[in-house]
Parts: sequence; C-alpha cells; structure tokens
Amino acid sequence: MRYWSTQVQNGGRPPGLSQVWPAFAPHLHLGTLRHPSLIAFLPEIVRASLPGTNGALLLASRFLHEHYRNELFERADINFPTILLAAISRRRAEFLAGRLLAHQAQLLLGLDTMEIAVNSDRSPAWPVGLAGSISHTGEWCICAVTKGDQVLAGVDIETVPSGDALSSIMEYCLDADERALILGTERRSVPQLAGLVFSAKETLFKLLYPRVGRYFGFDTAKIRELPTSTTLRLYLTSNLGGPLETGKCFEIRIGSGPNHVLTWAFEDSSFWQT
Ligand SMILES: CC(C)(COP(=O)(O)OP(=O)(O)OC[C@H]1O[C@@H](n2cnc3c(N)ncnc32)[C@H](O)[C@@H]1OP(=O)(O)O)[C@@H](O)C(=O)NCCC(=O)NCCS
Repeated sequence: MRYWSTQVQNGGRPPGLSQVWPAFAPHLHLGTLRHPSLIAFLPEIVRASLPGTNGALLLASRFLHEHYRNELFERADINFPTILLAAISRRRAEFLAGRLLAHQAQLLLGLDTMEIAVNSDRSPAWPVGLAGSISHTGEWCICAVTKGDQVLAGVDIETVPSGDALSSIMEYCLDADERALILGTERRSVPQLAGLVFSAKETLFKLLYPRVGRYFGFDTAKIRELPTSTTLRLYLTSNLGGPLETGKCFEIRIGSGPNHVLTWAFEDSSFWQT
C-alpha cells in the first residue's frame, strides 16, 4: 500500500494498469473465480491480447491482501504447495493471485484449467502445450500465457524504483555504459529507465531460464541504446549455450506509468538449434 501514499486518484483507489499500458481492457471473472470471495480478493482484472504472437495473453490485477484467506485455494481448486507452508500470508496471497490469473488465461485460450505446479527451483511448471510467466509487486500481479510447446514467455512488473532500490539497481544491475545511457537522456526519468532495464532483465531471465536451466546474473545482458516507446533491446554479453550466443538480441516489450513499469517477451524457440 505504501506505493499509493503519494498518489491518491479515482476516489481513493490506486490508478489502474491501463495507465501503464493502454491496451489493457477490463476482464470479466470466469469459472471458479466468479465466487464473491474470489472476486473480493482479485477485484479488477484487465487483459490484453497481443497481436502477432499467435494468441498470447497478458492478464493483470490488483490483489487485496485483506481479502486473502487460506480457504481461497480450495475454493479456486488450486493446490496449496508445500513451499507456502512456512510463508506469511502476503506471500501466499501473491502466489494465489498468479495462479488465479493463469487459470483465467487458460480459460480464455479455450483450455481446461490445469495445475501450474512449483518446480524444485521454485519456477512454475507449466503444463505441456502452454508457456507462461508470472510476476507480482506490491498489490499487483501479472501473468503472460500462450499456447505452444516450443514457446518461451517472460513477464515482470516493478514499482518505479526510488531511494535504496534505485541505488542498488544503478550499482549492481547496470554496467557503466548502461548507466551513462540512462543518465545522459531527458527522454525519460532516471528511475523509470533504470526500472525498465531492471525489469527487462528479469523478464529475460524468466524467458530463458527453462532453456538455460541455471541462474545467470544481471551482467549477462545489457542495453546498447535507449528503449523506444514500446521496445527495449537486450543483447547477451556472454554465451548461454546453444543458440544463445554473445550478441544475440532480444526485443522486450515495455509499458510504463507514473508508479510502475511492465515488461514482457515471448519467443518462438522452435528454430533454435541445441
Ligand atoms: C526469479 C526472479 C527473476 C523472480 O523475480 P522477482 O522480481 O523476485 O519476483 P517476481 O514477482 O517478478 O516473479 C516471481 C515469479 O517468478 C517465477 N519464477 C521464479 N523462479 C523462476 C525461474 N527460475 N524461471 C522463471 N520464472 C521463475 C515464479 O512464478 C514466481 O512467482 P510465484 O512463486 O508466485 O509463482 C528473481 O528472483 C531472480 O532471481 N532474479 C535474478 C536473475 C536475473 O534476473 N538475472 C538477469 C538476467 S539478464
């Protein structure tokens, strides 16, 4: 809630994600999510279809911690994973919000809802024939999903960084060239640009992780030019194996509002040689 302390709009409600990306349109709750207790928890879902991506979807929503109850898992027919047994309710709530959005996406794609289990490395285990990605920040959650066996998805939402968070990103997640680009322009503010580059790197990590199969750090990719209004390019700085060679460029889609930045990417990996 602290994110909204300086910006109270819409009669006291936080501004919606349409501010961050105008293509978001309201989504009507489907299936088990129509239960009042779940609508109260996830009240305002928005969605966007992504042209040119073979039916990929983004769904996003606020999730309200004060309406979270453990029983909501059962109500929504979602397994409560053992990794959440020791988690505080905020963490349980954000996990549930992501799975609920993923179920809505499956219904929109004409599929039955299938469990998205948790792998031992904590990444989501998407069912065969589906690729997706989940992110949450504060009280917002987003999910990117598409059909396909050889597709990769990545999504990330971040609060525009300030204070220590901004300093950490500038120091640990960007190199000197990237810092110079960000500090040398007036096209966007430094916090917005730093947040976008950080978020794009997290999106790239989620996108490639299923293929790479190991952790790789923020120095593995970098910007060489400033983003356009819609796209940020990241170039690999080292070889991640197979076709993921140094210099390979990934186009990450971006959206940004006064408080949040959003990034996402889908990749057809069927042409990649291993
Ligand atoms: C894994 C990581 C990307 C998650 O990002 P985050 O900002 O902490 O949190 P987000 O809310 O955006 O994302 C969390 C979701 O990511 C997903 N996730 C976790 N590990 C993942 C992985 N290895 N691969 C793909 N997705 C993963 C999960 O769905 C998780 O939500 P859930 O547990 O509720 O299902 C982050 O913790 C991390 O390790 N980053 C460092 C690696 C990196 O970004 N390198 C830069 C490469 S250029």
